[in-house]
Amino acid sequence: MEIHNQFSLKNYNTFGIEAKAKQFVAVHSVEELQSILQKYAHEKKFVLGGGSNMLLTKDIDALVIHIDLKGKKIIKETDDWVWVECQAGENWHEFVLWTLSKNFGGLENMSLIPGNVGTTPVQNIGAYGTEIKDTMVSCDAMTIDSQAMKTFSNADCHFGYRESVFKQEAKDHYIITSVVFQLTKRHHKINTAYGDIQSELSKQGIENPTIQDVSNAVIAIRQSKLPDPKELGNSGSFFKNPILLKTDFEKIHQQFPEMKYFDVSPTEVKVPAGWLIEQAGFKGKRFGDAGIHKNQALVLVNYGNATGQEILNVSKDIQETIYNTFGIRIEAEVNVI
Ligand code: EPU
Repeated sequence: MEIHNQFSLKNYNTFGIEAKAKQFVAVHSVEELQSILQKYAHEKKFVLGGGSNMLLTKDIDALVIHIDLKGKKIIKETDDWVWVECQAGENWHEFVLWTLSKNFGGLENMSLIPGNVGTTPVQNIGAYGTEIKDTMVSCDAMTIDSQAMKTFSNADCHFGYRESVFKQEAKDHYIITSVVFQLTKRHHKINTAYGDIQSELSKQGIENPTIQDVSNAVIAIRQSKLPDPKELGNSGSFFKNPILLKTDFEKIHQQFPEMKYFDVSPTEVKVPAGWLIEQAGFKGKRFGDAGIHKNQALVLVNYGNATGQEILNVSKDIQETIYNTFGIRIEAEVNVI
Protein backbone atom coordinates (compact mmCIF):
# COMPACT_ATOMS: atom_id res chain seq x y z
CA MET A 1 0.00 0.00 0.00
CA GLU A 2 1.51 3.23 -1.11
CA ILE A 3 0.82 6.43 0.82
CA HIS A 4 0.73 9.46 -1.48
CA ASN A 5 1.30 12.98 -0.19
CA GLN A 6 -0.51 16.07 -1.51
CA PHE A 7 -2.59 13.84 -3.79
CA SER A 8 -5.03 15.34 -6.31
CA LEU A 9 -8.62 14.13 -5.84
CA LYS A 10 -9.84 15.46 -9.21
CA ASN A 11 -10.27 11.95 -10.62
CA TYR A 12 -11.83 10.66 -7.39
CA ASN A 13 -14.93 12.87 -7.25
CA THR A 14 -17.59 12.85 -9.96
CA PHE A 15 -17.90 16.67 -9.80
CA GLY A 16 -14.30 16.72 -11.10
CA ILE A 17 -13.26 19.33 -8.53
CA GLU A 18 -9.57 19.93 -7.98
CA ALA A 19 -8.71 19.48 -4.29
CA LYS A 20 -5.75 17.87 -2.58
CA ALA A 21 -5.57 15.21 0.11
CA LYS A 22 -2.78 15.70 2.64
CA GLN A 23 -2.26 11.93 2.35
CA PHE A 24 -4.02 9.29 0.25
CA VAL A 25 -4.08 5.51 0.29
CA ALA A 26 -6.18 2.97 -1.63
CA VAL A 27 -7.02 -0.23 0.27
CA HIS A 28 -7.81 -3.47 -1.56
CA SER A 29 -8.71 -5.86 1.26
CA VAL A 30 -10.22 -5.90 4.73
CA GLU A 31 -6.75 -6.77 6.10
CA GLU A 32 -5.19 -3.73 4.42
CA LEU A 33 -7.95 -1.53 5.80
CA GLN A 34 -7.39 -2.94 9.29
CA SER A 35 -3.65 -2.34 9.16
CA ILE A 36 -4.03 1.26 7.90
CA LEU A 37 -6.56 2.06 10.63
CA GLN A 38 -4.22 0.61 13.26
CA LYS A 39 -1.13 2.35 11.96
CA TYR A 40 -2.85 5.73 11.60
CA ALA A 41 -5.02 5.38 14.70
CA HIS A 42 -4.25 8.91 15.88
CA GLU A 43 -4.36 10.70 12.52
CA LYS A 44 -7.38 12.43 11.04
CA LYS A 45 -9.01 10.15 8.48
CA PHE A 46 -11.47 10.65 5.63
CA VAL A 47 -13.18 7.70 3.93
CA LEU A 48 -13.70 7.91 0.18
CA GLY A 49 -15.85 5.55 -1.86
CA GLY A 50 -16.85 6.39 -5.42
CA GLY A 51 -16.83 10.15 -4.75
CA SER A 52 -20.24 10.47 -6.38
CA ASN A 53 -22.08 12.21 -3.58
CA MET A 54 -19.76 14.93 -2.35
CA LEU A 55 -18.74 18.47 -3.13
CA LEU A 56 -15.14 19.29 -2.21
CA THR A 57 -14.89 22.95 -1.24
CA LYS A 58 -11.38 22.71 0.21
CA ASP A 59 -8.29 20.52 0.46
CA ILE A 60 -8.63 17.58 2.84
CA ASP A 61 -6.26 17.89 5.76
CA ALA A 62 -6.38 14.18 6.60
CA LEU A 63 -5.41 10.71 5.43
CA VAL A 64 -7.92 9.89 2.68
CA ILE A 65 -8.67 6.16 2.62
CA HIS A 66 -10.08 5.07 -0.73
CA ILE A 67 -12.09 1.85 -0.35
CA ASP A 68 -11.18 -0.31 -3.33
CA LEU A 69 -12.35 -3.75 -2.17
CA LYS A 70 -13.48 -5.86 -5.14
CA GLY A 71 -15.51 -9.03 -5.62
CA LYS A 72 -19.07 -10.32 -5.85
CA LYS A 73 -20.43 -13.75 -5.14
CA ILE A 74 -23.55 -15.78 -4.59
CA ILE A 75 -23.68 -16.81 -0.95
CA LYS A 76 -26.99 -18.70 -0.82
CA GLU A 77 -29.86 -19.62 -3.09
CA THR A 78 -33.25 -21.29 -3.23
CA ASP A 79 -35.45 -21.96 -6.27
CA ASP A 80 -36.90 -18.46 -6.02
CA TRP A 81 -34.24 -16.32 -4.36
CA VAL A 82 -30.54 -15.61 -4.44
CA TRP A 83 -28.37 -13.82 -1.88
CA VAL A 84 -25.49 -11.92 -3.46
CA GLU A 85 -22.61 -10.35 -1.57
CA CYS A 86 -20.77 -7.47 -3.20
CA GLN A 87 -17.61 -5.78 -1.94
CA ALA A 88 -17.76 -2.05 -1.24
CA GLY A 89 -15.39 -0.91 -3.99
CA GLU A 90 -17.34 -2.40 -6.90
CA ASN A 91 -18.93 0.12 -9.25
CA TRP A 92 -22.68 0.11 -8.60
CA HIS A 93 -23.87 0.07 -12.21
CA GLU A 94 -21.45 -2.71 -13.20
CA PHE A 95 -22.78 -4.71 -10.27
CA VAL A 96 -26.39 -4.11 -11.41
CA LEU A 97 -25.48 -5.26 -14.94
CA TRP A 98 -23.83 -8.39 -13.50
CA THR A 99 -27.03 -9.27 -11.55
CA LEU A 100 -29.08 -8.73 -14.72
CA SER A 101 -26.73 -10.91 -16.79
CA LYS A 102 -27.65 -13.72 -14.38
CA ASN A 103 -31.35 -12.79 -14.60
CA PHE A 104 -31.49 -11.78 -10.91
CA GLY A 105 -34.24 -9.23 -10.29
CA GLY A 106 -34.57 -6.32 -7.87
CA LEU A 107 -31.94 -3.76 -8.81
CA GLU A 108 -33.00 -2.99 -12.41
CA ASN A 109 -34.79 0.29 -11.56
CA MET A 110 -31.53 1.57 -10.06
CA SER A 111 -29.45 1.08 -13.21
CA LEU A 112 -26.82 3.70 -14.05
CA ILE A 113 -26.68 5.37 -10.63
CA PRO A 114 -23.10 6.59 -10.22
CA GLY A 115 -20.94 5.55 -7.29
CA ASN A 116 -19.72 2.40 -5.56
CA VAL A 117 -21.66 -0.36 -3.82
CA GLY A 118 -20.29 0.45 -0.35
CA THR A 119 -21.84 3.88 -0.25
CA THR A 120 -25.30 2.82 -1.45
CA PRO A 121 -26.64 2.09 2.06
CA VAL A 122 -25.33 5.40 3.41
CA GLN A 123 -27.91 7.45 1.60
CA ASN A 124 -30.31 4.63 0.72
CA ILE A 125 -29.92 5.32 -2.99
CA GLY A 126 -33.07 5.11 -5.02
CA ALA A 127 -34.60 5.80 -8.39
CA TYR A 128 -37.76 5.13 -10.36
CA GLY A 129 -39.78 3.71 -7.50
CA THR A 130 -37.13 1.50 -5.86
CA GLU A 131 -34.64 2.07 -3.04
CA ILE A 132 -31.73 0.01 -1.78
CA LYS A 133 -33.70 -0.76 1.39
CA ASP A 134 -36.11 -2.89 -0.69
CA THR A 135 -33.47 -5.55 -1.49
CA MET A 136 -30.60 -5.04 0.97
CA VAL A 137 -30.38 -7.76 3.61
CA SER A 138 -27.34 -6.54 5.52
CA CYS A 139 -23.98 -4.89 5.23
CA ASP A 140 -20.67 -5.52 6.95
CA ALA A 141 -18.67 -2.63 8.30
CA MET A 142 -15.37 -2.13 10.10
CA THR A 143 -15.40 -0.10 13.30
CA ILE A 144 -12.85 2.67 12.76
CA ASP A 145 -11.60 2.79 16.38
CA SER A 146 -11.33 -0.93 17.18
CA GLN A 147 -11.25 -2.48 13.68
CA ALA A 148 -13.93 -4.93 14.86
CA MET A 149 -16.33 -6.08 12.13
CA LYS A 150 -20.04 -5.46 12.66
CA THR A 151 -23.01 -6.62 10.61
CA PHE A 152 -25.88 -4.17 10.18
CA SER A 153 -29.21 -5.77 9.30
CA ASN A 154 -31.64 -3.88 7.09
CA ALA A 155 -33.54 -2.80 10.24
CA ASP A 156 -30.31 -1.66 11.94
CA CYS A 157 -29.74 0.77 9.06
CA HIS A 158 -32.83 2.90 9.94
CA PHE A 159 -33.46 3.64 6.30
CA GLY A 160 -35.49 6.66 5.22
CA TYR A 161 -35.65 8.83 2.10
CA ARG A 162 -31.94 9.35 1.28
CA GLU A 163 -31.29 8.64 4.97
CA SER A 164 -29.69 5.94 7.13
CA VAL A 165 -27.94 5.37 10.44
CA PHE A 166 -24.65 6.00 8.58
CA LYS A 167 -25.62 9.66 8.19
CA GLN A 168 -26.70 9.84 11.86
CA GLU A 169 -25.41 7.96 14.96
CA ALA A 170 -23.02 5.72 13.02
CA LYS A 171 -21.50 8.60 11.02
CA ASP A 172 -17.67 8.58 11.13
CA HIS A 173 -17.61 5.38 13.22
CA TYR A 174 -17.80 2.66 10.55
CA ILE A 175 -16.53 1.84 7.09
CA ILE A 176 -18.85 -0.37 5.02
CA THR A 177 -16.86 -3.20 3.45
CA SER A 178 -19.54 -5.32 1.73
CA VAL A 179 -23.30 -5.44 1.14
CA VAL A 180 -25.68 -8.40 0.77
CA PHE A 181 -28.78 -8.22 -1.45
CA GLN A 182 -31.65 -10.68 -1.74
CA LEU A 183 -32.77 -10.86 -5.36
CA THR A 184 -35.39 -12.83 -7.27
CA LYS A 185 -34.43 -15.71 -9.57
CA ARG A 186 -37.94 -16.02 -11.01
CA HIS A 187 -41.37 -14.41 -10.53
CA HIS A 188 -39.61 -11.04 -10.79
CA LYS A 189 -41.51 -8.08 -9.39
CA ILE A 190 -41.59 -5.73 -12.34
CA ASN A 191 -42.01 -2.16 -11.10
CA THR A 192 -43.00 0.28 -13.82
CA ALA A 193 -45.23 2.47 -11.67
CA TYR A 194 -42.93 5.49 -11.94
CA GLY A 195 -44.43 7.50 -14.80
CA ASP A 196 -41.34 7.88 -16.95
CA ILE A 197 -40.69 4.11 -17.15
CA GLN A 198 -44.16 3.30 -18.42
CA SER A 199 -43.97 5.93 -21.15
CA GLU A 200 -40.44 4.89 -22.17
CA LEU A 201 -41.56 1.23 -22.50
CA SER A 202 -44.63 2.23 -24.52
CA LYS A 203 -42.38 4.31 -26.77
CA GLN A 204 -40.32 1.17 -27.36
CA GLY A 205 -43.51 -0.87 -27.98
CA ILE A 206 -42.89 -3.18 -24.98
CA GLU A 207 -46.01 -4.43 -23.21
CA ASN A 208 -44.71 -7.20 -20.93
CA PRO A 209 -41.28 -6.00 -19.89
CA THR A 210 -38.52 -8.22 -18.54
CA ILE A 211 -36.13 -6.93 -15.87
CA GLN A 212 -33.63 -6.27 -18.69
CA ASP A 213 -36.26 -4.17 -20.51
CA VAL A 214 -36.87 -2.14 -17.33
CA SER A 215 -33.13 -1.60 -16.92
CA ASN A 216 -32.82 -0.48 -20.55
CA ALA A 217 -35.74 1.93 -20.12
CA VAL A 218 -34.17 3.40 -16.96
CA ILE A 219 -30.83 3.76 -18.76
CA ALA A 220 -32.54 5.56 -21.67
CA ILE A 221 -34.40 7.94 -19.32
CA ARG A 222 -31.30 8.70 -17.26
CA GLN A 223 -29.18 9.28 -20.36
CA SER A 224 -31.75 11.73 -21.72
CA LYS A 225 -32.05 13.71 -18.47
CA LEU A 226 -28.91 13.28 -16.42
CA PRO A 227 -25.40 14.25 -17.49
CA ASP A 228 -22.68 11.58 -17.61
CA PRO A 229 -20.09 12.56 -14.96
CA LYS A 230 -17.32 11.48 -17.37
CA GLU A 231 -18.42 14.22 -19.76
CA LEU A 232 -19.79 16.87 -17.41
CA GLY A 233 -18.86 16.86 -13.72
CA ASN A 234 -21.87 16.41 -11.42
CA SER A 235 -23.10 14.59 -8.36
CA GLY A 236 -26.60 13.56 -9.41
CA SER A 237 -29.36 15.33 -7.54
CA PHE A 238 -27.72 18.10 -5.57
CA PHE A 239 -30.79 18.66 -3.38
CA LYS A 240 -33.32 16.39 -1.70
CA ASN A 241 -36.96 16.78 -2.63
CA PRO A 242 -38.47 18.64 0.34
CA ILE A 243 -41.11 16.87 2.43
CA LEU A 244 -43.79 19.20 3.79
CA LEU A 245 -46.65 18.77 6.21
CA LYS A 246 -49.88 18.68 4.22
CA THR A 247 -51.25 21.52 6.33
CA ASP A 248 -48.30 23.76 5.36
CA PHE A 249 -48.32 22.58 1.76
CA GLU A 250 -52.00 23.39 1.27
CA LYS A 251 -51.40 27.07 2.02
CA ILE A 252 -48.51 27.20 -0.48
CA HIS A 253 -50.49 25.22 -3.05
CA GLN A 254 -53.32 27.78 -2.96
CA GLN A 255 -50.83 30.41 -4.03
CA PHE A 256 -49.11 28.15 -6.61
CA PRO A 257 -51.83 25.75 -7.81
CA GLU A 258 -49.61 24.36 -10.60
CA MET A 259 -47.03 23.10 -8.05
CA LYS A 260 -46.33 19.35 -8.47
CA TYR A 261 -46.43 17.09 -5.42
CA PHE A 262 -46.60 13.42 -4.37
CA ASP A 263 -48.21 11.99 -1.23
CA VAL A 264 -45.63 10.26 1.00
CA SER A 265 -47.78 9.64 4.08
CA PRO A 266 -51.27 10.59 5.22
CA THR A 267 -49.86 13.83 6.64
CA GLU A 268 -46.93 14.65 4.33
CA VAL A 269 -46.22 15.47 0.69
CA LYS A 270 -43.01 15.58 -1.31
CA VAL A 271 -42.47 18.45 -3.71
CA PRO A 272 -40.03 17.96 -6.62
CA ALA A 273 -37.16 20.38 -6.00
CA GLY A 274 -36.36 20.20 -9.74
CA TRP A 275 -39.74 21.79 -10.44
CA LEU A 276 -39.17 24.57 -7.87
CA ILE A 277 -35.69 25.31 -9.28
CA GLU A 278 -37.00 25.37 -12.84
CA GLN A 279 -39.86 27.70 -11.90
CA ALA A 280 -37.39 29.99 -10.14
CA GLY A 281 -35.63 30.38 -13.49
CA PHE A 282 -32.36 28.55 -12.77
CA LYS A 283 -32.65 25.61 -15.17
CA GLY A 284 -29.81 25.65 -17.72
CA LYS A 285 -28.20 28.79 -16.22
CA ARG A 286 -24.43 29.06 -16.03
CA PHE A 287 -22.31 31.14 -13.65
CA GLY A 288 -18.69 30.87 -14.80
CA ASP A 289 -17.94 27.14 -14.85
CA ALA A 290 -20.70 26.28 -12.38
CA GLY A 291 -24.23 25.69 -13.63
CA ILE A 292 -27.63 24.05 -13.41
CA HIS A 293 -28.24 21.22 -15.87
CA LYS A 294 -30.47 22.03 -18.83
CA ASN A 295 -32.51 18.80 -18.65
CA GLN A 296 -32.83 18.28 -14.89
CA ALA A 297 -32.71 21.34 -12.64
CA LEU A 298 -31.90 19.24 -9.56
CA VAL A 299 -28.42 18.55 -10.91
CA LEU A 300 -25.62 21.12 -10.55
CA VAL A 301 -22.73 20.77 -12.98
CA ASN A 302 -19.07 21.70 -13.34
CA TYR A 303 -18.30 22.84 -16.89
CA GLY A 304 -14.58 22.31 -16.33
CA ASN A 305 -12.76 24.35 -13.75
CA ALA A 306 -15.41 25.37 -11.24
CA THR A 307 -14.24 25.31 -7.64
CA GLY A 308 -16.34 23.61 -5.00
CA GLN A 309 -16.92 27.01 -3.42
CA GLU A 310 -18.37 28.37 -6.69
CA ILE A 311 -20.79 25.45 -6.93
CA LEU A 312 -21.68 25.88 -3.26
CA ASN A 313 -22.42 29.58 -3.88
CA VAL A 314 -24.78 28.70 -6.75
CA SER A 315 -26.52 26.17 -4.50
CA LYS A 316 -26.98 28.79 -1.76
CA ASP A 317 -28.36 31.27 -4.27
CA ILE A 318 -30.89 28.63 -5.40
CA GLN A 319 -31.88 27.78 -1.80
CA GLU A 320 -32.41 31.44 -0.96
CA THR A 321 -34.45 32.18 -4.08
CA ILE A 322 -36.65 29.10 -3.53
CA TYR A 323 -37.26 30.16 0.06
CA ASN A 324 -38.07 33.75 -0.91
CA THR A 325 -40.34 32.64 -3.77
CA PHE A 326 -42.20 29.66 -2.30
CA GLY A 327 -41.39 29.73 1.43
CA ILE A 328 -39.90 26.22 1.07
CA ARG A 329 -36.45 25.26 2.34
CA ILE A 330 -34.52 22.76 0.20
CA GLU A 331 -31.59 20.86 1.64
CA ALA A 332 -28.45 19.60 -0.11
CA GLU A 333 -28.37 15.86 -0.71
CA VAL A 334 -24.64 15.77 -1.41
CA ASN A 335 -22.11 15.99 1.40
CA VAL A 336 -20.43 19.36 1.35
CA ILE A 337 -16.84 18.94 2.51
N1 EPU B 1 -39.14 18.41 -12.71
C1 EPU B 1 -39.24 19.65 -13.29
N2 EPU B 1 -38.09 20.24 -13.72
C2 EPU B 1 -36.88 19.67 -13.64
C3 EPU B 1 -36.78 18.40 -13.03
C4 EPU B 1 -37.93 17.79 -12.57
O1 EPU B 1 -40.32 20.22 -13.40
O2 EPU B 1 -35.91 20.27 -14.08
C5 EPU B 1 -40.38 17.72 -12.30
C6 EPU B 1 -40.72 16.61 -13.30
O3 EPU B 1 -41.50 17.07 -14.34
C7 EPU B 1 -41.44 15.59 -12.48
C8 EPU B 1 -40.85 15.75 -11.11
O4 EPU B 1 -40.17 17.02 -11.09
O5 EPU B 1 -42.80 15.89 -12.39
C9 EPU B 1 -39.91 14.63 -10.74
O6 EPU B 1 -38.82 14.59 -11.67
P1 EPU B 1 -37.90 13.29 -11.89
O7 EPU B 1 -38.73 12.12 -12.24
O8 EPU B 1 -36.81 13.66 -12.83
O9 EPU B 1 -37.32 12.96 -10.46
P2 EPU B 1 -36.74 13.90 -9.29
O10 EPU B 1 -37.69 13.89 -8.16
O11 EPU B 1 -36.32 15.22 -9.83
C10 EPU B 1 -35.63 11.89 -8.04
C11 EPU B 1 -34.29 11.50 -7.50
C12 EPU B 1 -33.35 11.07 -8.62
C13 EPU B 1 -33.98 9.89 -9.33
C14 EPU B 1 -35.37 10.32 -9.86
C15 EPU B 1 -36.13 9.19 -10.47
C16 EPU B 1 -34.03 12.79 -5.46
C17 EPU B 1 -33.31 13.90 -4.77
N3 EPU B 1 -33.71 12.59 -6.74
O12 EPU B 1 -35.45 13.04 -8.85
O13 EPU B 1 -32.14 10.63 -8.01
O14 EPU B 1 -33.17 9.45 -10.39
O15 EPU B 1 -36.18 10.80 -8.76
O16 EPU B 1 -36.53 8.30 -9.48
O17 EPU B 1 -34.85 12.13 -4.85
C18 EPU B 1 -29.94 11.22 -7.37
O18 EPU B 1 -30.29 11.01 -6.21
O19 EPU B 1 -28.77 11.60 -7.66
C19 EPU B 1 -30.92 11.08 -8.44
C20 EPU B 1 -30.64 11.41 -9.71
